[in-house]
Amino acid sequence: MLKRALPLLLIGLAWLLPQAALAGSQDTGAANPERLETLLYQDCGSCHGMTLRGGLGPALPRDRMQTLSPEALTHIIRYGIPGTAMPGWAALLSEEEARWIAEHLQTDNRLKTLGD
Ligand code: HEC
Repeated sequence: MLKRALPLLLIGLAWLLPQAALAGSQDTGAANPERLETLLYQDCGSCHGMTLRGGLGPALPRDRMQTLSPEALTHIIRYGIPGTAMPGWAALLSEEEARWIAEHLQTDNRLKTLGD
């Protein structure tokens, strides 16, 4: 009996383990600071510069980010700026995660000002 059930059990496990791994790493809605910081400086950085000093997109210094409300920033991040190269990230970032990046840009941004 056990011998017969074993292959099924293994198939079950082989299916379950990646699901568990995915659940751990994928968008669970909760902000994961390490992932979001990497995304900000690498993915956003591909346009805004790895140090956020600008490139295809404008620089994103802390002082400039503080002139926008956290809500406006979160909206820009989730939905982009239509008619420009700024894409929306709603497919990759939950509301909470976009909000985390918005607040990070305003408070903990590595680039304080363009004068740095
Ligand atoms: C494909 C290139 C590209 C990527 C990737 C990109 N942006 Fe942008 N972003 C732009 C461009 C271009 C603009 C300026 C649009 C305009 O002309 O108003 C912009 C504008 C912005 C603004 C408004 C800046 C201001 O001073 O008003 C913010 C904030 C912003 N992006 C944040 C982000 C964040 C955060 C990410 C990553 C989640 C990101 N962007 C990824 C191209 C990009």
